[in-house]
Amino acid sequence: MQQKLAIFVSGDGTNLQAIFFSGVRIHLVVADRPCRALEVAREAGIPLALVERTDFTSSLDYEAHAKQLLALCERYQITFIALAGYKTILVDPILSHYAGKILNIHPSMLPSFPGPHAVRDVLAAGLPGTGCSVHYVTADVDGGRVVARKVVPIYAGDSEASLHARIKAEERLLYPRVISEELAKQ
Ligand code: GRF
Repeated sequence: MQQKLAIFVSGDGTNLQAIFFSGVRIHLVVADRPCRALEVAREAGIPLALVERTDFTSSLDYEAHAKQLLALCERYQITFIALAGYKTILVDPILSHYAGKILNIHPSMLPSFPGPHAVRDVLAAGLPGTGCSVHYVTADVDGGRVVARKVVPIYAGDSEASLHARIKAEERLLYPRVISEELAKQ
C-alpha cells in the first residue's frame, strides 16, 4: 500500500527541510502555530495546514486539538505521521487511530532526558556526551519504542544553543533515513 506521510511542525523546520530534500514524499505539513517550518513547506510546494493552538497552558483542551488533527489527516488520507519539532502533546483520538504509525525525533539519548528541556537538562547533568533518538509516539511522552539513536559529543564551553545545533545536524542525517526505513516496513 502506498503510504501517505504527514509531518507535524512547530518551529524552525530544519528536520522538515532535510526530510523533503532526502526525497521522501510528504503529503501534508501541519503546524500548531505560525512558524518558519510553514514557510519551508510553502517554498517546497507541500500542502500545509495550521491547526492553531491559542492556549499555551496545560489547561489546553488536548482532546479537541487531537480531534482537529485527526479530521485533517483523514481528509488527506494520511497513513503515517512524523513529528518534527511538534510542541503539542498528542492524545486520543489521534494516538489510537495512528497507533504504531507516529514517529518523533527527540534531542537526547532516550530513555535518558525525556521532556521539553532535554538539551538544557543534559548540560546541567555534566555528561561528556548526548545524542538524538527516533521513537514511536505513545501516551507515555518520549517513552515509546526507540528505533534509532546517534551519539553527539558535548564540548567544554557548550551552551544550550551550540549543543542543540550540533544535535540537530545529526538529526537531519538520521531522521529522513529512519522515516524512509519505517515507511518501507508498513
Ligand atoms: C529538534 O531538536 C527535535 O529533536 C525537537 O525539536 C527540534 C525541531 O527542530 N523535537 P526543527 O524545527 O526541525 O528545526
